[in-house]
Amino acid sequence: MNRNNNESSDNNSAPLNAQSIASLCRTLGCDIDVVVLPTVGSTNTWLLENNNITAAVTLCAAEHQTIGRGRRGRTWHSPHSGVTFSIRLHRPEPVTRFQGLSLLVGALLCDQLRDIGASDAMLKWPNDVLVNHAKLAGILIETSISASAESATTVVIGIGINYRRGPEAQLIDQNSTDLYQICGAKLPDRSELIARIASRVIKAVVGDVPLAVENLASRWSDYDAIADLEVVVDSAGAQVAGRTVGIDAIGGLLLDTDNGRQVFSSAEVSVRSR
Ligand code: BTN
Repeated sequence: MNRNNNESSDNNSAPLNAQSIASLCRTLGCDIDVVVLPTVGSTNTWLLENNNITAAVTLCAAEHQTIGRGRRGRTWHSPHSGVTFSIRLHRPEPVTRFQGLSLLVGALLCDQLRDIGASDAMLKWPNDVLVNHAKLAGILIETSISASAESATTVVIGIGINYRRGPEAQLIDQNSTDLYQICGAKLPDRSELIARIASRVIKAVVGDVPLAVENLASRWSDYDAIADLEVVVDSAGAQVAGRTVGIDAIGGLLLDTDNGRQVFSSAEVSVRSR
């Protein structure tokens, strides 16, 4: 089969289907509201702004995002027929309970991508999904204190996966890959993929997040794409060089530096050597 032939009759060209997503989620134990939009600025923004939908869990998927957002103010390029979706959960817990959630979601996304054939999927802390050092997927998590109660939190988890890109992929200014290059003809239907990822993520978020992150820390090496490497960490504008030594119990990046071991809860990591 010609992998560059976008006219193929594979099921991966099927439009997103809200009913199939909701129904598979239900089968997998998650009862959620699903909205599929042909075009939207950003599925994260849409869920943050359309807070009138009071369902405990709402998933918004889009065929195309015009201003997809990435971490640290970056843009997420969202060509037509990609995998771009966000999940909003209203949780009766304070925002501090969700520290480390981005790593947990990254690990769950990796698990699902490994299950469908991306067996080398790893995480560059905190949650860039890489295959052979090339970016396959990214996650943007945004939280807000609920309007109704200070001890409650609204969590929006946005996931973008490079699914099957055309020549425009060259426009993306980072080393990236897509699922079609990895899975070929076994590329799964997007609605099914979204439902499987969403179900894993929702179950984790309604569970004990701090405990799950603590458990993840002990098996972080299964996911760690930057294990034991010389890196530079950019944290709030300050650059710190050191060697990575995994994560702590709440998901912070551990770095051995000239000034001893340091921990970072939020930062950008650049690898100095491999
Ligand atoms: C990153 O790698 O910087 C994170 C990318 C996150 C992209 C997803 S696509 C769905 C959701 N909507 C957005 O605007 N961003 C996230």
